Amino acid sequence: MTAQESDAATPAPELDTTLLRRTLGAFATGVTVVSVGGATPHGMTANSFTAVSLDPPLVLVCVVRTAYMHEALQSTGRFGISVLSAEQEHVARHFANSRRPLGSQQFHVIDSRLGPLCGAPLISGAAANFECELWRTYDGGDHTIFIGRLLSMTNGNDRDVLVFERGKFGRLERESLGGAAAPDGRCPPDGPVGA
Ligand SMILES: Cc1cc2nc3c(=O)[nH]c(=O)nc-3n(C[C@H](O)[C@H](O)[C@H](O)COP(=O)(O)O)c2cc1C
Repeated sequence: MTAQESDAATPAPELDTTLLRRTLGAFATGVTVVSVGGATPHGMTANSFTAVSLDPPLVLVCVVRTAYMHEALQSTGRFGISVLSAEQEHVARHFANSRRPLGSQQFHVIDSRLGPLCGAPLISGAAANFECELWRTYDGGDHTIFIGRLLSMTNGNDRDVLVFERGKFGRLERESLGGAAAPDGRCPPDGPVGA
């Protein structure tokens, strides 16, 4: 059954929005700042970032239609993604705060540098930075799914990452992580490599 057939056959269940938000929060994520450059640079905290494809190299981020970033992404066509490190909770809070100033002023209190290919501010000290060009957009209900093709990446390998889970920020220390999957991303049948 395709997604469209399922839409037609099954009426949307009435889900309590508060409970839905809380339950979805059990899926722990990293935290990113999506950014655009140009005449009016803008940054927005987003945890909907996901890797999509290796060939071509694609990532996605979902942005609520009412966000200022929604219009900014569509009009600039290029954007940056900074995966925040464990020490950057204040950065996540800053770019999620609706009272932050607009334009370049919002970056005055945060250390950043301009991505040479996307023209957007990239957060310094991040666990990773990506530069993207907008590849496709898809309807995602009250959000739009923005898919970006990667133009460049920088890996701050030595940095622990910031995590977000059930409405709270935390840190993921690499030393607390157990067995790794194989380099191709698969786990062997008898458990993770090194377990
Ligand atoms: C941890 C965290 C993750 C967030 N993830 C997203 C997201 O993926 N997409 C989104 O549209 N808003 C997300 N938000 C909310 C936006 O950051 C927030 O509404 C922001 O003020 C919108 O900015 P703008 O309207 O100035 O562009 C998140 C907020 C937090 C605190």
